[in-house]
Amino acid sequence: MDEPYMDEPWWTRSVGYQIYVRSYADANGDGLGDLPGILERIDHVAWLGADVVWINPFFPSPMRDAGYDVADYCGVDDRFGQIADFDAVVARAHELGLRVVIDVVPNHTSSDHPWFVAARSARDDPYRDYYIWRDPAPDGGPPNNWASVFGGRAWTYDDATGQYWLHLFLPQMPDLNWAHPAVADEFDAILRFWLERGVDGFRVDVAHALTKHPALPDLPEVTELADGRRPLTGASRTFDGLAHVYDFDQPDNVEVYRRWRRVVAEHDALLLGEVYLLDAAAVRRYVADQSGLHLSFWFGPLHCDWDADALRATLREAVAELGRWVSWPLGNHDRPRTASAFGGGAPGRERALALATLMFGLPGLPFVYQGEELGLDDVEVPVDQLQDPIARHSTPERARDRARTPMPWEPVPGFGFTTGGTQPWLPFGPRTDADTVAGQRADPDSTLRRYRALVAVRREVGDLTADTPTRWLDAPGEAVIAYRRGDALVVANTGDDPVAWPLPAGRWRVRFSSTSPDDERRTIVGEAALAPRQALVLTPDPSDPPAAG
Ligand code: GLC
Repeated sequence: MDEPYMDEPWWTRSVGYQIYVRSYADANGDGLGDLPGILERIDHVAWLGADVVWINPFFPSPMRDAGYDVADYCGVDDRFGQIADFDAVVARAHELGLRVVIDVVPNHTSSDHPWFVAARSARDDPYRDYYIWRDPAPDGGPPNNWASVFGGRAWTYDDATGQYWLHLFLPQMPDLNWAHPAVADEFDAILRFWLERGVDGFRVDVAHALTKHPALPDLPEVTELADGRRPLTGASRTFDGLAHVYDFDQPDNVEVYRRWRRVVAEHDALLLGEVYLLDAAAVRRYVADQSGLHLSFWFGPLHCDWDADALRATLREAVAELGRWVSWPLGNHDRPRTASAFGGGAPGRERALALATLMFGLPGLPFVYQGEELGLDDVEVPVDQLQDPIARHSTPERARDRARTPMPWEPVPGFGFTTGGTQPWLPFGPRTDADTVAGQRADPDSTLRRYRALVAVRREVGDLTADTPTRWLDAPGEAVIAYRRGDALVVANTGDDPVAWPLPAGRWRVRFSSTSPDDERRTIVGEAALAPRQALVLTPDPSDPPAAG
């Protein structure tokens, strides 16, 4: 970062970019993305202007959950390359000025992990307590009513040893027992392994669930969800019918991150949690005193309908509770693509960009999921080609494959993702030349060019990332969401009608427009004429500056 910010953590004014390795770029032509593919295409991230890449799991895995079922935390799956390929990605990223964040998956291992293989071999095996085992209930059924996020029960019976093991995800993803001190020691070593290889931080998978209530009580049932909220995960109906008061968000979670904070501090590395709680006051506990996680993702906007009041409320809630210690995901590999979530097609794309503009002006670290910068829609993957285990454990409608299809790089067969003729692991779907990176780079009006301009304006307008309060200028019931950050003003028309929005007195310069580059560098006075779904970033014009905000 530039000199004036030397005393701040490096992520404070950064923009993140999420690389889903399976679908970013396939260098060996087997249809699956890989680390050499990332090496070939990582320049794209630097061109976009982002500062941090988060690379999804590439560790050895039986791939029952796309690599989140880890069988060896300190290696690279052959399908993605070798450890030397990872080192090359890190070296190239650093050359480009990018930081590298990788996943750490501490809630569960794969059932193929040697720890679980040993744990399952006998009740008195030394690894038994690495996992959570319980005797059957008196009727022989599971020990409690907990459900798996992916569908079905959270317990599977082991015939050989006569006990159930706990798994909040697949049966083949047994939950680790964080009450056992050896587990914490193992993860200290895992973090150090990657830090010593040069990684700059960790995205902590399922960060809200590591420790469980020691008594494992039954969960209360819920009948209604809070107003306007979609279910917590949307993955499984059984799971969404329970109040997650003993499996999620237990007080000891924070203790794990306090311990890790000391480990990462030695390397000035970032701890970014996937604290999947849709209540910012609860998430706050993980970041507020800055002794545990540095940042947490806030998923509220990805669980909203396109409704000004709902969006405004979730943005405000995060800013009020999490301040600067928040990361704003613009899509991810678990949620529908933002454009599709908000109506699809051109209007969906415009809404996604308006939301991105609002997120980029707020304190925190925005994170762009690969392909969001192209405004991609979800792909309707035929049911027989779905890979996500949720399709089998819950329903095909809930499968996450739609947002995981390969990146369209170039208007050629295989889209520059894989060699022409190779079937990628998920279909490209109806992508056109205009969806590709090359096509959009050549078009000054493209969505990609808008995102690049948005990343640039965030860097240019220091007030957007400064440690200053956010002052909201809008009111409930309005289609417009607006706030000031220092002297800068960000305003978005969420509605489908044009709006003339009264500006504070003085002359304003348009620094960014989500709909058209032609609007930029204009100055405006009196009111902002906002097109449907248009967002603007404005700063005072030096010739007649508005009163200080
Ligand atoms: C996280 C990941 C998701 C995975 C789950 C289990 O939510 O983002 O993809 O399925 O954890 O590890």
